[in-house]
This record gives sequence, C-alpha cells and structure tokens, in this order.
Amino acid sequence: MATAFTPCHVGKNCHPECGAAIVNQVNLELYASYVYMSMACYFDREDVALKHFNLFFLRQSNKEREHAEHLLGLQNQRACNLHLHNIPKPEEDNWGSSLRVLECALHLAKRVQQSLLSLHQVATEKHGHVCNFLKHHYVQEQAMFIQELGDHITNLHKLAAQEESLAESLSDKLSLGDSKN
Ligand SMILES: [Fe+2]
Repeated sequence: MATAFTPCHVGKNCHPECGAAIVNQVNLELYASYVYMSMACYFDREDVALKHFNLFFLRQSNKEREHAEHLLGLQNQRACNLHLHNIPKPEEDNWGSSLRVLECALHLAKRVQQSLLSLHQVATEKHGHVCNFLKHHYVQEQAMFIQELGDHITNLHKLAAQEESLAESLSDKLSLGDSKN
C-alpha cells in the first residue's frame, strides 16, 4: 500500500490501547468515506444532478479513504497486528435534499473530529509526548472541513429564506392582487 504520511510516534512500540484507537479511527474514516461516496452518488442522480455537490463529496470521500490508508501504513510501519472491523452501511439510502446531506455530513465530520481528538489524547498519554502529525494534519484539516460545511449550510438557509420571501411577494401580487374580498 502506498503511503505518503509523515512518520509519527503514535504507533511506536504498538501500545495496545493506542493500536485499538488507531484501528477505530481507520474504521470511522472508512465509514465516512463510504457515507460521502453515497452522498456524491445522490448528487449524481439524474433527478438531482448537482455537479459541484457531487465533486465536493467525491473529493471528501477520497480524502477520508487516504486518511485510513495513512493510519494503516502507520500500524504496518511499526509491525503492529491489525484487527479490523466491519464498515457499516450509510444510515440513509435516499438523502432527500442538499440541506439534509450537508447537515448529516456536518454531524459525521464532528464525530470524526471527536474521535481524532480522543486518539490524539491516547497517543499523547501512552507515549509521553504530543503527536504533531495527528494534530497538524488531521485535526486541523477536519476543523476546516467542519467550518466549510457550516458555511454551506448557512448559505443554503439564506437562499431558502430569500426564495420564501420572493414566493410570498409573488403570491401577494399574483394571487391576492385581484382578490375581491
Ligand atoms: Fe479523515
């Protein structure tokens, strides 16, 4: 497996608790990749056809898979045994709307971030020093992704409010304008 990660001390000496936390993180990263792939497919549907949303979630799915690969590479570099878990299927088969997708993605992204912070804490405690790789590459990147999703949700809400206001205005003019009552 090709890995491009910077070596970090997380896996050094294969501490069992640290190894288990890394495997849990791998599972969650792969689950996130699976979910974002499912979201990308939703936007690629003929009746949805939102190209930029599709590409956004495809990129994110690839990133999450790469994160899992890097963590697995870390375990291999330290010659640790791997005990992988099953990857659950995404919770939804039909995402329904862009807003629903973004809200679910934000929820998942926060879950991934919380798990990363827990892994970072275990790595720090078990090895007596801070693992900069996790902090500077994974945690910060995840925080930026969370911020981006939040911004997209805010913008979507604003657009929906504008649309509602426009619909009210048109309704006032077109439907109620000729009212005899
Ligand atoms: Fe990730």
